[in-house]
Amino acid sequence: MSEKAQIILDGKTYEFPVYEGSEGEKAIDISKLRDQSGYVTLDFGYKNTGATTSAITFLDGEQGILHYRGYPIEQLAEKASFLEVSYLLLYGELPKAKELNDFENQIRYHSLVHEDMKHFFEFFPSNAHPMGILSAMVNSLSTFYPKSQDPHRSANDRMRTAVRLIAKFPTLAAISYKNGLGHPYMYPDNKLGYVENFLYMMYGLPTEPYKVDPVVADALNKLLILHADHEQNCSASTVRMVGSSQANLYSAVSAGIAALWGPLHGGANQEVIEMLETIRNDGGDIQKWVNKAKDKEDPFRLFGFGHRVYKNFDPRARIIKKSCDDVLKKMGVNDPVLDIAKQLEEIALKDDYFIERKLYPNVDFYSGIIYRAIGIPTRMFTVMFALGRLPGWIAQWKEMVENKEPIGRPRQIYTGATKRDYVALKDRG
Ligand code: SDX
Repeated sequence: MSEKAQIILDGKTYEFPVYEGSEGEKAIDISKLRDQSGYVTLDFGYKNTGATTSAITFLDGEQGILHYRGYPIEQLAEKASFLEVSYLLLYGELPKAKELNDFENQIRYHSLVHEDMKHFFEFFPSNAHPMGILSAMVNSLSTFYPKSQDPHRSANDRMRTAVRLIAKFPTLAAISYKNGLGHPYMYPDNKLGYVENFLYMMYGLPTEPYKVDPVVADALNKLLILHADHEQNCSASTVRMVGSSQANLYSAVSAGIAALWGPLHGGANQEVIEMLETIRNDGGDIQKWVNKAKDKEDPFRLFGFGHRVYKNFDPRARIIKKSCDDVLKKMGVNDPVLDIAKQLEEIALKDDYFIERKLYPNVDFYSGIIYRAIGIPTRMFTVMFALGRLPGWIAQWKEMVENKEPIGRPRQIYTGATKRDYVALKDRG
C-alpha cells in the first residue's frame, strides 16, 4: 500500500493508507479512523464499504465480469461439474483427477442424514415453506456432530464439516420437498452423480424406477455453478458475520439460508415467476406493470431486475437466458411466461426509468423459467439457489476462519433521546 488518502476533519488532516487488490480495486483503509479522529463512517446497506479482503470471487459490476478463483463463469458453466467448482471455491485450485474423485467419494459417503432427523420433518406443517425447514434442519446438524461446534478445532475437522454439509444438503432439500407432498423420502443412490442424485431423491418413488433426464441434469448443473458464489452478497456476509463469533459452520449457513430467503435476495426467483404469472393472468398488459414498478406510490417492484453491484448486465442472467430457449426446446416445453419475460425485458430496457437507474435483469429473472421447465416447484426455487450457493458460503466462512478475522461488530450513530431521569409510574400521568 503506497498511495494515501487524506481526510480533513475539524481543521486537522488525517492520512489513511490506500489498499489495492489484485484486479486493481482500491479501498481506503480506515481501520484507524476512530482512534485517530473520533469519527466513524456511515454507509447504509454498506453500499460503499468493504468488509474484508477475499481471494474467492471477483466481480466487476460495470463490465459484467464474474470469476471464481480467476476462472470466468462462462467457461466454468460450460465445461465444469458443480462438485468440481465446489472444490475450486473451497481449495482455490481446480482439482486434479484423483483429488476430484476423492472429493466425490467423500460426498457420496456422507450423503445420508441421521435417521432421527426424519422425525423432525414430521412436525412441520405440510404447507411449511422448504426454506424455513432447511434453515432449521441445517442448524440442527450441529447437534449431531458436536466436534463441528469448535471451528478452530482443526483444518481436517473444518473440511469434514464442509463435506458433510455439501453431502447432506441435497438430501435435506429433497426430504423437505417430499414432506410437503406427503410422499415417502428417497434415500440417496450413491451410484449417481451429485446433481442426478438430488433429482432422484426429489422425483423418485419407491414404487417405480426413476431415470434422470440428462438435459435436466445438465441444466441444473449449470444453474448450480452460476449460483455458487457472489462475493460479499447479503447471505454470504451473514454467514461471515455469524461465523465471526466462532459459531459453527452449520449455524452460520443456517443464518445464510434465512438471509437468502428474503424477496430482495434469493427469494426473488420465486417472486419473478409469481410476478410473471400475475401479469399473464391480468391479461398480459406488460406496460401497465412496468408503469407500476416505476410509480413511487406503488409498492410493486419488478422482481428479477436491478442489482447492487451489476450496473451493466448480470453475466449469469445472460447465460441463463441463452440456455432458457435451449432447455425448453430440448424439453419440448412451451412456457408462456418466457414470452412475457422477454417482452418485459425488452420494454424495461428501453424505458428511461430503468436506463437511468441502470436496472438490468439479474440472475433471478430467467432462472425460475428453467427450474419450472425441469419440474422444480416454485416454492423450491430459493432452495435451489441455496443448494448452488452452499459451496460459496462455506468457502467464505473457511476464508474468514483461516484468516482469523475479528468478530464483526459495526459502529452506529445514535439518534435517540439524550440523557433523561426515570419517572415513577405514578408521576407519568
Ligand atoms: C440477488 O448482492 C448480490 O450479489 C445478490 C445476488 C447474489 O448472487 O447473491 O446477485 C442475488 O439477490 C439478486 C437480486 C434479486 N432481487 C431482486 O430481483 C429484487 C428486485 N430488485 C431490487 O429490489 C433491487 O434492485 C436490489 C435489492 C436488487 C438492489 O437494491 P439497491 O442496490 O439497494 O438499489 P435501490 O433499492 O436503492 O434502487 C435504486 C433505485 C431506486 O429508485 P430511486 O429511489 O433512485 O428513484 O432503483 C429503483 C429503486 O426504487 N429500483 C427498482 C428496482 N430495483 C431498484 N425499481 C423498480 N423495480 C426494481 N426491481
